[in-house]
Amino acid sequence: MLDLLYHRRSTRKFLDKPVEVEKVKQLITAGLLAPSSKNNRPWEFLLVDDADQLKAMAYTKPHGSSFLANAPLAIIILGAPGKSDVWVEDCSIASTLIQVEAESLGLGSCWVQVRNRSHDEEISAAQYLRRHFDIPADMEVLSIIGIGYKGQERTPLDDDDLIWSKVRKNSYDSKMKF
Ligand SMILES: Cc1cc2nc3c(=O)[nH]c(=O)nc-3n(C[C@H](O)[C@H](O)[C@H](O)COP(=O)(O)O)c2cc1C
Repeated sequence: MLDLLYHRRSTRKFLDKPVEVEKVKQLITAGLLAPSSKNNRPWEFLLVDDADQLKAMAYTKPHGSSFLANAPLAIIILGAPGKSDVWVEDCSIASTLIQVEAESLGLGSCWVQVRNRSHDEEISAAQYLRRHFDIPADMEVLSIIGIGYKGQERTPLDDDDLIWSKVRKNSYDSKMKF
């Protein structure tokens, strides 16, 4: 598991190659297996593999979503606030598990933040997607995970990237040493 986590880096360049249906199913399975508060499972997953739709999704935000134009697959992570007051946490966990599963399947992925982000001065990023995909009013949008075969090599993280000073033990003013 740690080896996989060292190697998972955000991928924003993809090969022009579709993700096989069996792998798509495994990605969604990872999301559906996510733990959630009180087992409310407030998430839903909207798969997009249509090139024109993906190009439209690239305009979700002025920055940080353009790479979706060249992704073969994106999963919109939706949450139902009416089902859980911690839908953000639940949807974040599902997003992360999908990213980790992508890495384990030899795929690259990158999170696009949607919640609390703007499309332009008038509408939110979520409203832009809501209109485009007819997302019902009782569902919110947390994120989009862009996924595909990696079209870029990224250096894996290593032990020098680990900020051990963030770790404390028993009391906040004591550092943890291993
Ligand atoms: C909550 C969250 C929001 C993010 N939003 C975006 C985004 O909108 N666009 C983007 O290109 N990357 C986004 N990222 C990816 C981060 O930029 C990336 O994970 C971070 O720089 C660390 O790099 P790494 O994933 O390669 O380790 C987001 C990641 C997280 C966890």
